[in-house]
Amino acid sequence: MTNSVTSTPQFPDLKHKRILVTGASSGIGAGMAKVLAQAGCRLVLHYNRNETGIEQTLEAVQAMGAEADVLRCDFAELSLVQPFFDQAWSIFDGLDGLVNNAGVVTKSLSLKDKQGDQFNRTLAVNLQAPYLLSTAFADACKQAGHKGAIVNNSSIHGQATCEWFAAYAASKAGMDAMTKVQAVEWGQFGVRVNVLAPGVVPVERTFDVLYRPEMERKWVGAMPVGRYGTVEDMGMATAYLLSDATEWMTGSILTLDGGLIARGHYPYRD
Ligand SMILES: NC(=O)c1ccc[n+]([C@@H]2O[C@H](COP(=O)([O-])OP(=O)(O)OC[C@H]3O[C@@H](n4cnc5c(N)ncnc54)[C@H](OP(=O)(O)O)[C@@H]3O)[C@@H](O)[C@H]2O)c1
Repeated sequence: MTNSVTSTPQFPDLKHKRILVTGASSGIGAGMAKVLAQAGCRLVLHYNRNETGIEQTLEAVQAMGAEADVLRCDFAELSLVQPFFDQAWSIFDGLDGLVNNAGVVTKSLSLKDKQGDQFNRTLAVNLQAPYLLSTAFADACKQAGHKGAIVNNSSIHGQATCEWFAAYAASKAGMDAMTKVQAVEWGQFGVRVNVLAPGVVPVERTFDVLYRPEMERKWVGAMPVGRYGTVEDMGMATAYLLSDATEWMTGSILTLDGGLIARGHYPYRD
């Protein structure tokens, strides 16, 4: 089966919606930005270090006719998050959606991180920064008196994990739990919060490893759908979660993994 998606869903209500996508300089975030641009959204695109990547995303979405701007922030520096959000909010005089996608995929054995430096940094970028962004967004929507939708890009590691991922899995399980609580708190004033939980999606960072024939056999072989996920799959699910099609959906986890964790076999230790 080919690893490509050719159709784009139509969500007319997304036209002109103002969406902040964090981590849009590569991988899933860049894919989300392109699908949202096709749906007619206006985009604030965030990056941290990858200037070339964010310029490419900006060019691509502008070529699709989207209005877009770019902002930089290092989410490991938590004191920078609120000023970053204020700037993002002001670009289009408000935001209708927030996609907390930026994240670090850390992999280390717990006994190699005994002081917890990597653990703390992972939680800062993957959980604390999204917490600060989401609360800033919900507060601003409440004060502006309009609805809002948040999509938290978590991972199947929030639900099923394996060795090496204590920090990463903790950050994503924390994101899943935080989503449910914030959905309960904010539903009353029209801010919805949902999780996208991707399985294995090859991105620039992982192409070399995941497209090695033995790795592809192992991973894709474990997926009932028989292919890796694509950044377009993730973009389409994000558009769905931001759109009015999911107006009655909040506090939910949408798992997109080709059936991997439903099958219950994580093919790491062979
Ligand atoms: N790919 C998968 O298989 C997969 C599966 C499940 C979940 N996810 C999740 O998907 C999200 C995107 O990952 P990806 O796979 O697309 O990887 P990626 O291409 O490496 O993208 C990561 C993004 O996060 C940004 N980022 C990293 N550290 C940051 C920091 N300290 N401050 C602000 N931004 C930072 C990066 O910005 P710069 O590069 O500009 O610094 C980049 O835009 C992550 O949350 C990841 O956990 C991925």
